[in-house]
Amino acid sequence: MNKTLDGQTVVVFGGSSGIGEATAAAARDEGARVVITGRNEVRLAVARDRLGPVEAVPVDATRREAVDAFFSGLGALDHLVVALGSSAGAGEFRTLPLEDLRAGLESKLLAHLQVAQVALPYLRRDGSITFISAISARATLPGTTGLAALNAGLEAAARVLALELAPLRVNAVSPGVIDTPWWDALPPDFKQGYFAQAQATLPVRRVGRPEDVGALIAFLMRDTFLTGSVYEVDGGQRLVAS
Ligand SMILES: NC(=O)c1ccc[n+]([C@@H]2O[C@H](COP(=O)([O-])OP(=O)(O)OC[C@H]3O[C@@H](n4cnc5c(N)ncnc54)[C@H](OP(=O)(O)O)[C@@H]3O)[C@@H](O)[C@H]2O)c1
Repeated sequence: MNKTLDGQTVVVFGGSSGIGEATAAAARDEGARVVITGRNEVRLAVARDRLGPVEAVPVDATRREAVDAFFSGLGALDHLVVALGSSAGAGEFRTLPLEDLRAGLESKLLAHLQVAQVALPYLRRDGSITFISAISARATLPGTTGLAALNAGLEAAARVLALELAPLRVNAVSPGVIDTPWWDALPPDFKQGYFAQAQATLPVRRVGRPEDVGALIAFLMRDTFLTGSVYEVDGGQRLVAS
């Protein structure tokens, strides 16, 4: 296992907020060269100012030409983290517009896979890819059929890719409730109630912080024996939610 990420190049897609930003901070602290991406240039510049010595490049992960241009402009990298946020596809199945499900599949599952595929020629042969899925892949919560399908798809893909792309390592990290701007897309009352309930019922008695996940992803990049797994980082939610 490498002790740090010193001197390695880490790319974080969706690094301008939440889990991606915390991952960028963890890699930066270990001496990595860190490149973050996001769509919104203002958000990206603000994150770069918060993070200090990292590079920031605006890229929309759903646009193939933009992703191609990003990686060909960047050149070699050691680790890729894909942390693209999207809540599209959430909602009760009976009334879920299939356009929403399609948008969810495109903005999360397909976008994660597209970024990984384009990155391959540039990634170190025994470097790593980390995808971010979600507890919805396994939690069987009503109202999350779409999210369950697309996140479970991502987890299944990670395991196959770990064999197909070996010795490149491929893992997925599956967060529970993490306090990030992802929740701002939902009504404030809903967020408040859900967080209060999580705080009361989770074995750890608190909601997760982006740093909780960023630290785990940095570990996965460093530990050269870890591949083909899904790492749950949920404060024990899987034990109490179904
Ligand atoms: N927060 C939670 O409780 C939680 C729980 C389980 C799973 N997750 C998963 O964790 C991942 C990260 O979520 P988060 O909570 O960190 O969300 P977040 O704070 O909203 O951050 C999402 C990041 O992705 C970027 N992004 C979104 N679409 C993009 C695109 N097409 N191209 C490039 N960048 C894009 C955003 O920047 P721009 O908008 O500027 O592009 C932002 O940097 C998501 O996949 C989410 O499903 C989160």
